[in-house]
Amino acid sequence: MSPDSRAKPIVVTGGAGFIGSNLVEALLKQGATVRVLDDFSTGRRENLAEAGAWAKQGGGRFELIEGSVCDEAAVERAIAGSGAVLHQAATELDDETAATSAFVASIRNAAGRLQSLRSELAK
Ligand SMILES: NC(=O)c1ccc[n+]([C@@H]2O[C@H](COP(=O)([O-])OP(=O)(O)OC[C@H]3O[C@@H](n4cnc5c(N)ncnc54)[C@H](O)[C@@H]3O)[C@@H](O)[C@H]2O)c1
Repeated sequence: MSPDSRAKPIVVTGGAGFIGSNLVEALLKQGATVRVLDDFSTGRRENLAEAGAWAKQGGGRFELIEGSVCDEAAVERAIAGSGAVLHQAATELDDETAATSAFVASIRNAAGRLQSLRSELAK
C-alpha cells in the first residue's frame, strides 16, 4: 500500500455488511485509514467489533459514520478528503418494494450522491 493511500481515508459504504466488513478488515490490516458509511439496515455492529484491533494491528485508523448513502449530508461527510470509495451498500428487494415510487426516488437520490462523489474524487 502506497503512503498516499494510507493517508487518505478509503470509504467503504455498507462496511457493516458481509462483503463490506471483510473488505474493512483486509484494508485495516494493511494499514489503511478506513471510513465506513452504513445505515445498519441489514449490517451488523458485531461485524465491525474488531475494527479497532485490526486498525491497531496494521497501523491504520477506523472511522464509522452511521447514515445512508441516500442522505446527501452523510455522503458529503463520508467522502470529505477521501482517496477512494468501495461501494458495497445494498438492499435486497422483493418485487413489492421495487415497485414503490419512494424506492425509485431513493435509488435516484443515491445515484446522484454517487455521481457527486465521483466528481469530488476527480478533483
Ligand atoms: N454476499 C454475496 O455472496 C454476494 C455475491 C454477489 C454480489 N453481492 C453483492 O455485494 C453487495 C453487498 O452484499 P453483502 O452480502 O455484503 O450484503 P449485506 O446486506 O451483508 O451488506 C449490505 C450493507 O449495506 C448497508 N446498507 C444498505 N442500504 C444502505 C444505505 N442506504 N446506506 C448505507 N448503508 C446501507 C447494510 O446495512 C449492510 O451493512 C450487494 O450489492 C450484493 O448484491 C453479494
